[in-house]
Amino acid sequence: MTPSTPPDPGAPGFHTPVGSRRQLFRWVTAAAAALIGLGLAVPLIGYVISPALRRRERPWVEVGDVDTLPVGTPTQLDHVLEIKDGWLSATAHKAVWAVKQEDGSVTVFSPICTHLGCGYRWDDGDRRFKCPCHGSVYDVAGKVLAGPAPRPLDRLPVKVEQGRLLVMYKEFKSGLPTQVEL
Ligand code: FES
Repeated sequence: MTPSTPPDPGAPGFHTPVGSRRQLFRWVTAAAAALIGLGLAVPLIGYVISPALRRRERPWVEVGDVDTLPVGTPTQLDHVLEIKDGWLSATAHKAVWAVKQEDGSVTVFSPICTHLGCGYRWDDGDRRFKCPCHGSVYDVAGKVLAGPAPRPLDRLPVKVEQGRLLVMYKEFKSGLPTQVEL
């Protein structure tokens, strides 16, 4: 048997040149580092920006005692609202219009005119809601009777717990015939 000849290290194509191997190694290391970095960065970025992207939280707010509301006559109920918007939180003074029905249920209206967003008031003599800005007029059920208001008054979600009236305060785009929540 003839002893096999040792390979010639200088022969072309027999091995990867040292420079190319080193470069390949560098590329693989860089790609691995980038993958690990990305894996760490994505959850971190998500944690930081997700509160800002989340829709503003709407809490239930207690606005008054149902028993003290008169039947059929709107009552303005003022309350303080804690607003959380992304990382920011603030308090705001809000008012709503509550109308107790014959059956004891309560309808609550947003205080914002659906035309261009002015505050309106209840005229007890005329038994109408009236907006001072452009003359929109609504009946006690929030239906438009006159003026440029494109839709009825916006109703807010409401519930009663142990005789206390709770409202979820929301705002809607004004000037539209349909309700679009902000
Ligand atoms: S904002 Fe109320 S009528 Fe225009």
